[in-house]
Amino acid sequence: MQLIVTKNYSELSRKAGEIVCSFICGNPNGVLGLPTGSTPIGMYKYLVDAYKNNKVSFENITTVNLDEYLGLSKYNKHSYNYFMWENLFGKVNIAPKNTHVPRGSVIFCQRECHRYNKILDRNKINLQVLGIGENGHLGFNEPNTPFDSRTHVVSLSQSTLQANSRFFENKNAMPRYAITMGIADILKAETVLLLACGKNKAQAVKDMITGNCCEQVPASALQLHKNVIVVADEDASSLLS
Ligand code: F6R
Repeated sequence: MQLIVTKNYSELSRKAGEIVCSFICGNPNGVLGLPTGSTPIGMYKYLVDAYKNNKVSFENITTVNLDEYLGLSKYNKHSYNYFMWENLFGKVNIAPKNTHVPRGSVIFCQRECHRYNKILDRNKINLQVLGIGENGHLGFNEPNTPFDSRTHVVSLSQSTLQANSRFFENKNAMPRYAITMGIADILKAETVLLLACGKNKAQAVKDMITGNCCEQVPASALQLHKNVIVVADEDASSLLS
């Protein structure tokens, strides 16, 4: 794994934005795997600015998102689909038909997982951007998810419910289940770019890079991948010697 340590969040966002921009410029028909959450917001701002300044075009880019809460429609402001339109899709020249996010409002979840796997099979991810959970999750692949998993339904762990409750005014309204791409889907990407920011991610970053490669720490699966770039701020990398 290549580790890039940045001073702070704004430097992390700029570095991540530069990496994604240079990927898009070199692969104008490429496929990007995308995360939501607080960490990538600055990177999305960088990409929107780059688009507005004619430095990058999303015209022929395809995106596949990692995950979505089950039970939320795409119009719900807490849904990850809504997040993507607010932070990126609605602000750049991407074709809506080229954006893919799991559908959270489906009744037949297994059918949705199957549909999403087919999308992933048709669109090989060139660059997968990731955040990391405090418990080491990737997407919503919680601890003990098999490394050979594909898109599946997850029951969110207590740690994730606790961490993500900050986005919901009413904690009881927070979904308990989600659909996520699997670890195997993430590992198939040509290049992985993982972003980590803040002291609360330091243990997960340490376990990911220097811990045992095991299913209790989903992010440690990245040790099996040949082309991983980690961009972490000083706080998130503070436990690495
Ligand atoms: C969201 C996702 C999650 C987040 C992780 C970190 O699409 O894939 O794995 O990346 O929970 O979230 P933040 O960035 O909010 O700390």
